[in-house]
Amino acid sequence: MKGKEPIAMLTAYTCPIARYLEKSGVPIILVGDTVGMVEMGFNSTCHVTMDHMQYHVAAVRRGATHTHIIGDLPYQSYESPESALSNARLLLEAGADSVKLEGPHIEEIEHLVANDVAVVGHTGLTPQTAVNFKQVGNEAADAKRIVDEAHQIAAAGAFLLVLEHIPSNLGQEITESTEIPTIGIGAGPACDGQVLVVNDALGIGDYWPSFSKQYAQIGEIIQQAVARFKAEVVNRQFP
Ligand code: KIV
Repeated sequence: MKGKEPIAMLTAYTCPIARYLEKSGVPIILVGDTVGMVEMGFNSTCHVTMDHMQYHVAAVRRGATHTHIIGDLPYQSYESPESALSNARLLLEAGADSVKLEGPHIEEIEHLVANDVAVVGHTGLTPQTAVNFKQVGNEAADAKRIVDEAHQIAAAGAFLLVLEHIPSNLGQEITESTEIPTIGIGAGPACDGQVLVVNDALGIGDYWPSFSKQYAQIGEIIQQAVARFKAEVVNRQFP
């Protein structure tokens, strides 16, 4: 799709949401480790385990049988080429078509690709190891590090690259200088595609990153519906 049609990607963690995404024609679903923050109430993605990811990948696959699903490898699940491969295989068995990992784990990416695992890279802000969620790549040295990482990840054989929370010009530079498609989240409009955390896009939750966009306020709709149900029970209007 690079150079032809911008790629719309969303995260999903549950079967019903995955079903809606597939019906809407989204070509790629990411079962991200953001599940830990937006669905499980943790303050970091680092609490997410392989068990959690297998559970959520399987649920999403049951809802979206025909959509490409990326399974996120959680924190510390790809510390060596061997552990990357065995954990990636567990996500593929659960229903993923490809796996994503954060940062320049070049040996791990090469090992996965050599063993026929399709890999998505992720650079810029990498939440599993970040100290905060601020934009990165503003200083020349950091921008160069991110560009170099992007090129190394692509050269290692990744087929897609997520760019998170970097200046737009950096998103553009990487997009123009790599052959694989870039998917931005807070990385500017020049990326080959865009990804949002589905809870942010649907307005479910109470915090949205500045670069996100709410396309609906589903949280408010849930609250209103539940308040109506409660009132009808209390007033003996229901059933
Ligand atoms: O885990 C995730 O949902 C992600 C996106 C923020 C790209 O990595």
